[in-house]
Amino acid sequence: MGSLKTEEDIEESKDAILYVNGIRTVLPDGLAHLTLLEYLRDAGLTGTKLGCGEGGCGACTVMVSYFDQNSKKCVHQAINACLAPLYSVEGMHVITVEGVGNRKFGLHPVQESLASRHGSQCGFCTPGFIMSMYALLRSSKTPPTEEQIEESLAGNLCRCTGYRPILDAFRVFAKSNDLLYTSGSVSVHEPKNGEFICPSTGKPCSCGPNKETVEPSDACQNGYKPVSYNDVDGSSYTNKEIIFPPQLLTRKSSSLSLTGFGGIKWHRPLLLKHVLELKSRHPDAKLVVGNTELGIETRLKKIHYPVFISVTHVPELNILTVGNDGMEIGAGVRLSELQKFLKKVIEERPAYETSSCKAIIEQIKWFAGTQIRNVASVGGNICTASPISDLNPLWMASRAKFKVVDSKGSIRTILAENFFLGYRKVDLGNNEILLSVLLPWTREFEYVKEFKQAHRRDDDIALVNGGMRVFIEKSNKKWIVSDACVVYGGVAPVSLSAVKTKDYLIGKAWDKELLQNSLEILKQDVVISEDAPGGMVEFRKSLTLSFFFKFFLWVSHQMNGQEFFNESVPASHLSAVESFHRPSVMGSQDYEITKQGTAVGSPEVHMSARLQVTGEAEYTDDTPMPPGGLHAALILSKKPHARLLSIDDSGARSSPGFAGIFFNKDIPGSKFTGPIIEDEEVFASEIVTCVGQVIGVAVADTLENAKLAARKVVIEYEDLPAILSIEDAVEFKSFHPNTHRCLSKGDVDLCFQSDQCHKIIEGEVHIGGQEHFYLEPQSTFVWTMDGGHEVHMISSTQAPQKHQKYVAHVLGLPMSKVVCKVKRIGGGFGGKETRSAFIAAVASVPAYLLNRPVKLTLDRDIDMQLTGQRHSFLAKYKVGFTNEGKVLALDLEIYNNAGNSLDLSLAILDRSMYHSDNVYEIPNVRINGSVCFTNYPSNTAFRGFGGPQGMLVSENWIQRIAVEVKKSPEEIREINFNSEGSILHYGQQLQDCTLHRLWDELKKSCNFVKVRSEVDDFNLHNRWKKRGVAMIPTKFGISFTTKFMNQAGALVQVYTDGTVLVTHGGVEMGQGLHTKVAQIAASAFEIPLSSVFISETSTDKVPNASPTAASASSDMYGAAVLDACKQIKARMEPIASLKKHTSFVELVNACYFERIDLSAHGFHVVPDIGFDWKTGKGHPFRYFTYGAAFAEVEIDTLTGDFHTRAADVILDLGFSINPAIDVGQIEGAFIQGMGWVALEELKWGDAAHKWIPPGCLFTSGPGNYKIPSVNDVPFKFKVSLLKLNLFLRSVQPIYNDFDRKEET
Ligand SMILES: Cc1cc2nc3c(=O)[nH]c(=O)nc-3n(C[C@H](O)[C@H](O)[C@H](O)COP(=O)(O)OP(=O)(O)OC[C@H]3O[C@@H](n4cnc5c(N)ncnc54)[C@H](O)[C@@H]3O)c2cc1C
Ligand code: FES
Ligand code: FES
Repeated sequence: MGSLKTEEDIEESKDAILYVNGIRTVLPDGLAHLTLLEYLRDAGLTGTKLGCGEGGCGACTVMVSYFDQNSKKCVHQAINACLAPLYSVEGMHVITVEGVGNRKFGLHPVQESLASRHGSQCGFCTPGFIMSMYALLRSSKTPPTEEQIEESLAGNLCRCTGYRPILDAFRVFAKSNDLLYTSGSVSVHEPKNGEFICPSTGKPCSCGPNKETVEPSDACQNGYKPVSYNDVDGSSYTNKEIIFPPQLLTRKSSSLSLTGFGGIKWHRPLLLKHVLELKSRHPDAKLVVGNTELGIETRLKKIHYPVFISVTHVPELNILTVGNDGMEIGAGVRLSELQKFLKKVIEERPAYETSSCKAIIEQIKWFAGTQIRNVASVGGNICTASPISDLNPLWMASRAKFKVVDSKGSIRTILAENFFLGYRKVDLGNNEILLSVLLPWTREFEYVKEFKQAHRRDDDIALVNGGMRVFIEKSNKKWIVSDACVVYGGVAPVSLSAVKTKDYLIGKAWDKELLQNSLEILKQDVVISEDAPGGMVEFRKSLTLSFFFKFFLWVSHQMNGQEFFNESVPASHLSAVESFHRPSVMGSQDYEITKQGTAVGSPEVHMSARLQVTGEAEYTDDTPMPPGGLHAALILSKKPHARLLSIDDSGARSSPGFAGIFFNKDIPGSKFTGPIIEDEEVFASEIVTCVGQVIGVAVADTLENAKLAARKVVIEYEDLPAILSIEDAVEFKSFHPNTHRCLSKGDVDLCFQSDQCHKIIEGEVHIGGQEHFYLEPQSTFVWTMDGGHEVHMISSTQAPQKHQKYVAHVLGLPMSKVVCKVKRIGGGFGGKETRSAFIAAVASVPAYLLNRPVKLTLDRDIDMQLTGQRHSFLAKYKVGFTNEGKVLALDLEIYNNAGNSLDLSLAILDRSMYHSDNVYEIPNVRINGSVCFTNYPSNTAFRGFGGPQGMLVSENWIQRIAVEVKKSPEEIREINFNSEGSILHYGQQLQDCTLHRLWDELKKSCNFVKVRSEVDDFNLHNRWKKRGVAMIPTKFGISFTTKFMNQAGALVQVYTDGTVLVTHGGVEMGQGLHTKVAQIAASAFEIPLSSVFISETSTDKVPNASPTAASASSDMYGAAVLDACKQIKARMEPIASLKKHTSFVELVNACYFERIDLSAHGFHVVPDIGFDWKTGKGHPFRYFTYGAAFAEVEIDTLTGDFHTRAADVILDLGFSINPAIDVGQIEGAFIQGMGWVALEELKWGDAAHKWIPPGCLFTSGPGNYKIPSVNDVPFKFKVSLLKLNLFLRSVQPIYNDFDRKEET
């Protein structure tokens, strides 16, 4: 046990303790630098994941419980372990996913429900979702509503599922009427004669008498108590649920004084006077509550604070009191607590007094996610003085005062309006702290309103926010403004009070003239300079005016009906002031089940789902570090294009725990890598060509030490001119060598000149990139064997063979001595196809040269900065068409932004060119494509691989044609559709074209004609909110467009107990590949799916595998496995034909005794494909899948706020091997695509973002880069697979082999 250092005059400390999953541990001294997450993972509880380290993804969610001495209740809360300092949970009980349920002893209903409803794909986000839901259930007195469930998940991101199955899985808990669970809460359950309510579970219990201080009893000390969740999901949970440790019920908190790495001191005083004493002794000490600001500063911004004073246990800072004039809110009060308190106040006080309270509640609703709100404090938000604080504008607007106390105990109060002095600067001396907030009641006819517009509605920081107040009094038959305040956040370095507007408003009548004049004055009040940090200047300016306009309408609406008030709001304007309300998501899936044999065609659950929901599923970074293992940290370029003048690593070499540092000169083998051409240096030698390029790697005993050593390397650069946009690349002819491509059909020029083309339009389309945002960051773990002559690795990659090849190459070893294994990966989406391999190459250098294991897991910001994204594109088009809208000619130039190496950019360009016709018949086509070299990290594969960009361009000109010929875009689409037998611009003929059929089915399914007329009607009657509908078709070619990659291998081994082990070249990344492949093996042998197992992908079992990509893996590996199964079956046939066995096990044993080989290597090549770029003609695809989607969207034209009201997607997959998994992929892809086009925006330092350093990525984490969250799922979300399909797609040989059983 570590010793606790006690400041002499402060209350004596006892052991620092923590309960984890019911087990007590003493926290040693010296760990003040650790987060709870680091502590848990170091302790082997790797179910809790590190997805971002900045509170933005929820992968690290755990539940903490503590006994609140005031309410005498246990409080259960979900928090982000990645931001919680370890010592902040001292004296609490932490439950991780491992403590909820597991495979050996039974799954909790929450886990069971998520697994069985297909809510876990890659599984990396899954433990976080489980913990958020679990904490909600443990903390709910009554069953949560569906709305509460959706709200509680807003801080959890999933990139795979599209959220619908997660919501469906958890929705069942909203229906619970389990009396034991629900009525057992202290407030609901009326204790009968002396019956005791257990504060830990909130249910009747025999663990102690019903008195204030609870003595632990044997009953509770057993640690587990059965809880029934009957009616929850049809089954009852009979397993054991960990209760709150009774010892903690009676434990008195003590003050703490502990230390950490780098001289950090952590104090936790219990009394205000001790806080003040500590503050006077350490004037630079940081008070800490939730650490949600400080955690970002210390971890991401690398600011060092030597002394922390945790004030969570100081009563004076946690008060919540109601008085005659208003409320007093302690600075340490957490936002979720404040939210609850204000809701109670609203119920108890007259409505007019609580206008500020309502505004604050509404604002907190959109403030971060539940996990953050559970720990983030009022004072922390105020004292950070962030210019985009959501609450500070409201405190200012609502006349709040701040109570400040100095180290001598003297108290002063300051108007909130005067407290904020500058950028993150407040009116607090070094010896002062914020004690509380005094919030006055509002008066009759005094109105306060909150505003916030962010990229994403949920859990996002504001682009602009605001707080506005007006007090109107009747005077001479007029309603005159007697007081007002208009404050904005996000427009200046501090929350900005619009003083001129306020001065103008006072004394004016509340009418349209006031509105018009105020909008003019506001323009002078709020000035945002063109290069203001955050960009989007025009939009932000317009938001300030829109907010005021909405405020005017809202107040006028409140005043409606008052005598002499004449500004009633027209009905058509009312939607501008309605607050957003989201109904629960309604999802439906429509497919038929066509079973083939025992398993194929069946909607089986993902084979790892039950391991994933319990946190038992292992990912690369979960691999335990062996003795002598080292952590690696990268030394990265800070310049987009520069010459390296000098590298000084002396500081690193004397750093603690240092084990080695390696640069270009140290590489034993080839210094270059690359998937197609080797144009990438493993470590930059003389010139760097992007920010984030790897210059070297440092290894040390711990991750902190490795990072510290890497940070100490000093590099001198000489700047060189950088190409930072596609436009610059085009202007300066900066292209990757030999990457120009051309496809053509007919005669474009002749057609444009002919009089057939009634109209010709030209245009440009700029398409942005997209971050993969797989939840599991890139990770690799490399070690040597046999004296260092063999190298093995576990990597998070879609392409183990590439890892094997790169590492062998870089180390100068034969590939036969290098093995790469992959169990599963936490999402890939193309981002781990090639960009993971150079990371393995980097980590292999120290592992090989030092002969020690090395782990390299990228932090989220590093991962996003340097591993490339979806390519941004620039397209210039010229389209000729008839007056009816029939397209006759397309002349297209396409440029993609490859970044600083070629990687897969040429193949991505190829596919964008193939798909540039989308589904349209164009007689004359000419497409020229070029791959741009820019000074950005190399862009790479991303779902669709250039196809979506090509299609998006065509949909852009379709839309324009519709406007030109005054028809709907859907009509234009229909008259230009491809049909059976169409010959495409690259020579391939369409066969089995189901486009027309699925288009018609979609039209019927979404009721397009009716919905369009309803939308027209809505738009007619609503001035400020508008709705839109669209139907878009797609056709997507299946195969790798590089012919040799269309090969696949598999190894099938049948064991004498009748079980089958399958290994194949594909990687399980959540897409259910292993499940589908296992289904094929099961059907092939006519055995249950449970008899088939796929353990891992490994280069020593199946060699030379292509990456798992191109939507081709279940086809290819399914066919390879089938081939192996058929070989074994053929060998078994002589025995089987004797018909002497009654089961597969008997048959296998009979074969075994006859010395029949029960293992086979299967192989498959995709037939009938090939393309010749010299002629520009060929057959690049084995077949096409067709799809169409409908969406209805509503947008607030004043703020840009939008939501998707309905989406309906239909796809032709042929016969599906597993329709449930396919539906999951479609939903996930739809939401990911929606994120790309409507939400996600990469901001790089370039001419358009001058406030970002050149070449740097600003949006390098979930804080700034917003992928869709649970709140973005369409209200109605329907996915269908085309039924009664006559055509075979997917694993075609399978369907020719098995007996078909129609089941639906
Ligand atoms: C994922 C995420 C989402 C977020 N979303 C939002 C959002 O939507 N809107 C928004 O406004 N903010 C948001 N934030 C910012 C942050 O959560 C809030 O500012 C929060 O209220 C800070 O409280 P805390 O207790 O965690 O502060 P801490 O990090 O503990 O402290 C912050 C600062 O305040 C000082 N401090 C704390 N208490 C006192 C006191 N009593 N006297 C003097 N100084 C004090 C600390 O010393 C420190 O400098 C988000 C943060 C994260 C990580
Ligand atoms: S890892 Fe903690 S929120 Fe992402
Ligand atoms: S299953 Fe949610 S991120 Fe993969």
